[in-house]
Amino acid sequence: MTLAVCPGSFDPVTLGHLDVIKRAAALFDNVIVVVMVNSAKKPTFTIEERVDFLKRATASLKNVEVDTYNGLLADYTAMKKATAVVKGLRVMSDFEYEFQMALTNMSLTPGVETIFLPASIDCMFLSSSMVREVAKHGRDISPFVPEGLAEEITAKLTQKE
Ligand code: PNS
Repeated sequence: MTLAVCPGSFDPVTLGHLDVIKRAAALFDNVIVVVMVNSAKKPTFTIEERVDFLKRATASLKNVEVDTYNGLLADYTAMKKATAVVKGLRVMSDFEYEFQMALTNMSLTPGVETIFLPASIDCMFLSSSMVREVAKHGRDISPFVPEGLAEEITAKLTQKE
């Protein structure tokens, strides 16, 4: 059985993430989407909120599960005996960071490949930070996030502190 791990901070999940998850689910027997810590980012949504959004977004994908891990991706893939890590690439500027991560993970856990999927054309501009920015200013984010999530994401981002 092949197992792909799709890691990310998913703050929040976008249609771009969902596109990569769906394509990974078509390529591998099983997929784990794992919400992890990116030490360079301060998340807006709690781990529980991000997991809940992902579970709802992937509910119809029977070979996909959602998990969290507060450690190194290389340790997680070793623990799960994963076949590969699958990540999306939108633009060349993603590549430098993702390439460094892939080489780090390969040297920590040899044998787990990183596979990059090019973003689908209609998802190339999507990012969690763009979604947060648009929602914060009260504009409709429903074209950018999985069905049923726009209202809750916007509510959190527009609530008064
Ligand atoms: O969605 P993101 O923020 O681009 O995802 C990045 C993420 C969370 C996958 C990456 O930061 C990560 O793998 N974090 C876990 C810790 C780790 O393994 N870091 C890489 C080696 S230093």
